[in-house]
Amino acid sequence: MEHRLEIETMGKIKVFGPQRANGEITISGSKNSALPILAATLLTDEKIILHNIPNLADVNTMIEILENAGKKITWDESSLIIERYSNMNSVLPYGPVRRMRASFNVLGPLTIRNGYAKVALPGGCSIGVRPVNFHLEGLKKLGIESQIEHGFTHSKFIGAPEKVHISLPFPSVGATEHLITTAVLLDGTETILTNCAQEPEIVDLCNFLISMGAKIEGHGTSNIKICGVKELYGTEYTIIPDRIEAGTYAILGAIMGEKVTLNNVIEEHIFSLLDIFEKIGINYTMKNNILTIEGISKLELSPVDIETATFPGFPTDLQPQLMVLLSLIPGRSSITENVFKTRFNHVDELNRMGAKIFVEGNTAIITGVTKLSGAPLEATDLRASAALLIASLIADGETIINNVDHIFRGYEKLFEKLEKLGLEIEYYE
Ligand code: EPU
Repeated sequence: MEHRLEIETMGKIKVFGPQRANGEITISGSKNSALPILAATLLTDEKIILHNIPNLADVNTMIEILENAGKKITWDESSLIIERYSNMNSVLPYGPVRRMRASFNVLGPLTIRNGYAKVALPGGCSIGVRPVNFHLEGLKKLGIESQIEHGFTHSKFIGAPEKVHISLPFPSVGATEHLITTAVLLDGTETILTNCAQEPEIVDLCNFLISMGAKIEGHGTSNIKICGVKELYGTEYTIIPDRIEAGTYAILGAIMGEKVTLNNVIEEHIFSLLDIFEKIGINYTMKNNILTIEGISKLELSPVDIETATFPGFPTDLQPQLMVLLSLIPGRSSITENVFKTRFNHVDELNRMGAKIFVEGNTAIITGVTKLSGAPLEATDLRASAALLIASLIADGETIINNVDHIFRGYEKLFEKLEKLGLEIEYYE
């Protein structure tokens, strides 16, 4: 069955609040696992079947890129069947690559397989400056020389040494994924990556690559060893549930839940959020991959000081959503953003709803208010959109969120899931 979802318009959401959430939903497959795993399918011509893939705008952008590179891709419910369609094309068009940063991860595999590649350089985005220097410096050590001309990266494979050691200046998720995906196919090269990211999505990517025949050790720690192989093979693989989607609905449940039940949640992936819930005083139970959040009484809640960090720390991708919760807790809380230091686009919008948030450097200082009030708002990115949606559902009166389509990059079946939780929103273009 062929079904696609693309962002073509910039729609609006109208919400009347406050609303209460009550119901049960199932968390979808992880966007940030699906994207690097899809990029890694370029490592073989054999057939790959991936299960639990969320049908999201970003996933469809990656599919478009893979099709440009010579793959034939078919949806079957929430699975993707990926096959060879034509010779591999390693010169990719600007449009889809520019649209989504994760697409840069195709550069390494394409260069190794075809000897050269030309891929658009991703630009900055609304959550901050997003350079690719760790990617390019790491690829260089793996034998890929790159030059940037007219907004494109032109890369050439000149051969890799027998032993490579790459120490990342910061445990970048994308760079770790890109370098692993490249090193696995360097026959005869042993690569040691240190200070690499330990996110569950990295572990998922490595497990997928191992199922294709890759030799990787240490994934899930900050030191990964890869022994390159000559060839990788077809496989069938199921990706992990989306911990950021789970965290978003968990925060929604904490703010406005009578009882919100989330199926398909891996506890170890959201420990840092559950730990914060405990400090704040939010009641939850977690059993057999089911997270249940009960209603809260604001009087019993305590403010907290939080820092975002790489895994297993609290994820930057839940920072805007958590800020909505903290802005409703009496007292002074704070969030220090250590991953994308300027990721505070949502702050002015929340303040327009009556929140009291003040940003100093990379720290937001939040003084709890008793309620938020509906207002016209502007969404700027995926997680900010999710935060504004949660805020609008709890706020008094009408909120209109403009440019809200960013949200479809990361939340599958959003309207269906909100409806299952008894929440009403109106979408229009
Ligand atoms: N960085 C560099 N140079 C590089 C790469 C990264 O300086 O070459 C810096 C970044 O500027 C940033 C920090 O390192 O300050 C971390 O960036 P990272 O590379 O880890 O981020 P990413 O791989 O581009 C992924 C997720 C993001 C998530 C971050 C952090 C995907 C597709 N994207 O991005 O997800 O915020 O890791 O966890 O996996 C989202 O889903 O909303 C989202 C933005």
